[in-house]
Amino acid sequence: MSNQQLIDVAQRTFLANYRPAPMVLEKGEGCRLEDVEGNRWLDLCAGIAVVCVGHGHPKLAAAIAEQAGRLMHVSNLFYNRRAIELAEQLAARTAFDRFYFCNSGAEANEALLKLARRAHFERGDTQRTGMVAALSSFHGRTMGALSMTGQPKYHEGMGPMVGDVQHVPYGDLAALEQAVDGRTAGVLLEPVQGEGGVVVGSTEYLQGARKLCDDRGALLLFDEVQTGFGRTGSFLAHEHSGVLPDACALAKGIGSGFPLGAVAVREALTDALPPGTHATTYGGNPLACAAALAVLEIFDAEGLVDNSQRVGQYLGDKLGALAQRNDAVVEARGLGLLRGLKLAADVDPGAVLAAVRDQGVLLSLAGGDVLRFTPPLCVTTAELDEGLEAVERVLQNAPRKG
Ligand SMILES: Cc1ncc(COP(=O)(O)O)c(C=O)c1O
Repeated sequence: MSNQQLIDVAQRTFLANYRPAPMVLEKGEGCRLEDVEGNRWLDLCAGIAVVCVGHGHPKLAAAIAEQAGRLMHVSNLFYNRRAIELAEQLAARTAFDRFYFCNSGAEANEALLKLARRAHFERGDTQRTGMVAALSSFHGRTMGALSMTGQPKYHEGMGPMVGDVQHVPYGDLAALEQAVDGRTAGVLLEPVQGEGGVVVGSTEYLQGARKLCDDRGALLLFDEVQTGFGRTGSFLAHEHSGVLPDACALAKGIGSGFPLGAVAVREALTDALPPGTHATTYGGNPLACAAALAVLEIFDAEGLVDNSQRVGQYLGDKLGALAQRNDAVVEARGLGLLRGLKLAADVDPGAVLAAVRDQGVLLSLAGGDVLRFTPPLCVTTAELDEGLEAVERVLQNAPRKG
């Protein structure tokens, strides 16, 4: 069947909540994707910052196949070896001590919200239920995560939101100081706002948030769903600022495409969610954990965090230069392999994205007007050059609005 024939079926059978690009992807290798008609693309999107080891990685595929034949699911009524190994590996690689596994980023943030409230409750403080999050943030689409997401357009028609959540401008320490008080359970921030438009939180801001939470008895929570697993050139993005949150949400890169999420907490929060207070059927299943263990092995074997740092710097320099010489771009920003070009106000972002795709390169948009680069962490400088040439060809004659 052709792309169009399959898309016709999708349009008759899918809910209308997505607006996918007009091709049906069939297979991939490294940074390359192919559709059902054999058309090929350079993938600098990677499933929106997910496919960190690249498509079709033989070690990851073999680990999943091997585990699928051995044991896929046992529930949380029993231990399984892969979940234990994964928690141990993550404890060794991060500053966190304890892990809860779930299935997605939104679920990880739901768990963070519950954990923050329950942690205070467990200490006898039943008044601390307030959450403070940032405007332009994105934390997922389930009701708790959505309520903390600071983008009103996603709330529209979905209310009422989960109560007691305040939003403050990202990067504004004074606004945070005003919002956090003796009733605040937790402050949730992305170290780099991804969906919000690739906005890097300054070290000063994140340090200020840490101090404020310490002074006022609130938990500092980071959403590292998009920034984690090497994306910004360090294993977790909080390492750049040296600011250690009390807990963080992980997903996306952790399974490199296999659905998995996690909450990572410091030892002091071990008992924040006593038995029975939170759970999910599939969380920590051996199949997902085997995938994540294989991802970590590939990280080591191929030096993917170092590559993200090195090649990410190359991409950052190239985007900076492109921004200087092209009036369709206002600014280049980002960290590691999470980068963005903020387009000028009169440029049509959707048309730019489509035109770049027509040149054979896949990117995504963030914050409405930022052309976002989140390639697999194995991307080479040659592949980036190829993608950048296509982007520059489009931006030299950038489609304008209206
Ligand atoms: C920072 C952040 N948090 C949470 C999510 C939601 O993750 P999921 O789509 O896996 O629920 C995303 C997804 O883009 C994200 O970027």
